[in-house]
Amino acid sequence: MTIRRSVWLAGLAAVVLPMSSAMAGDVAAGKEKSAVCAACHGQTGESVAPDFPKLAGQHEDYLLRALKDYKAGHRKNPIMTAQVENLSPADMADLAAYYAAQEGLYVKR
Ligand code: HEC
Repeated sequence: MTIRRSVWLAGLAAVVLPMSSAMAGDVAAGKEKSAVCAACHGQTGESVAPDFPKLAGQHEDYLLRALKDYKAGHRKNPIMTAQVENLSPADMADLAAYYAAQEGLYVKR
């Protein structure tokens, strides 16, 4: 892909993505907030052991829903309940955006 085309596409994404999802999280902010998650889910969401679900490349909506469900007690898991305890809605949106933006490696196995 040429540089001009990449720049054009990035510009298009910058305009279209916020419109498609008003609540979209901030990937860069999510990266910073993900430091505590890395112990189990890996730095890029490619989890370190089979016990921990891979977050890389999962759908943003799905990740956000999972975090909200842990927080609300609709989804019960002692480890994750403790993890989301101090997260704000914006934190959860940022984290979901960050992991969704990582390359999912399922296909490479
Ligand atoms: C101590 C290990 C540990 C840490 C730290 C941790 N998690 Fe988890 N996470 C888990 C486990 C175990 C599960 C699976 C729980 C279940 O079965 O519901 C999980 C599940 C999840 C899921 C649901 C995934 C799916 O496919 O349904 C999300 C999203 C998630 N974690 C995000 C996070 C985020 C964001 C952080 C940091 C704020 C974090 N986790 C920190 C262990 C951890």
